[in-house]
Amino acid sequence: MTSSEILEQVAQEVSACQKCILFHSRKNAVPGEGPANADIMFIGEGPGFHENEQGRPFVGAAGRFLDELLAKIGMERSQVFITNVVKCRPPSNRDPLIEELEACSDYLERQIQAINPKVIVTLGRFSMARFLPNAKISAVHGQAMHIRARLVVPMYHPAAALHQGSLRPVIERDFAQLPELIAKASDAPEHPVEVPQEDKQDPEQLSFF
Ligand code: URA
Ligand code: SF4
Repeated sequence: MTSSEILEQVAQEVSACQKCILFHSRKNAVPGEGPANADIMFIGEGPGFHENEQGRPFVGAAGRFLDELLAKIGMERSQVFITNVVKCRPPSNRDPLIEELEACSDYLERQIQAINPKVIVTLGRFSMARFLPNAKISAVHGQAMHIRARLVVPMYHPAAALHQGSLRPVIERDFAQLPELIAKASDAPEHPVEVPQEDKQDPEQLSFF
């Protein structure tokens, strides 16, 4: 299967998925969207009200801010893949539960494998925790790290920056690094080399950024 076909297959499975209780309350599942060969993949938390209505990721206020952040680095939404750690809206936008994150995890894993992005940007705590289970976002945001042979940059959630104005320049600065990170990652081999098992729990911050 091509990457696009895998993404299409995942989207179809997500739309019919009943693997966790979130399927009961969803109007539309939100598999995520973007080109199969995107350099950057953004991983948010979960669909909110508008996403649940439309079946598309980041289409509310946080999404508009994400578009603005992309525009500031000369990019458009159509160039990046955007998805979430849970594909169905948690009722009243509550935090996703561990069992929901686990039930949904395989879809995200297949999307990452299919797209093989140069950079993964996690937006918010739940998406960061998938790669850095014990990290504090205030300590690691904006730091590019090699984790399981992927280049991962944890960032604040755009909604957090909307609610807390002091985070706005922080997230803007973190975004500003992305073009350089992508350019550097372009020099790396097309298919990342698997890191040895014993290194997997020990993400190292890259010293050269
Ligand atoms: N917040 C998220 O984490 N994801 C969305 O898709 C929208 C808002
Ligand atoms: Fe399935 Fe994920 Fe939706 Fe739960 S959140 S029903 S696991 S697609």
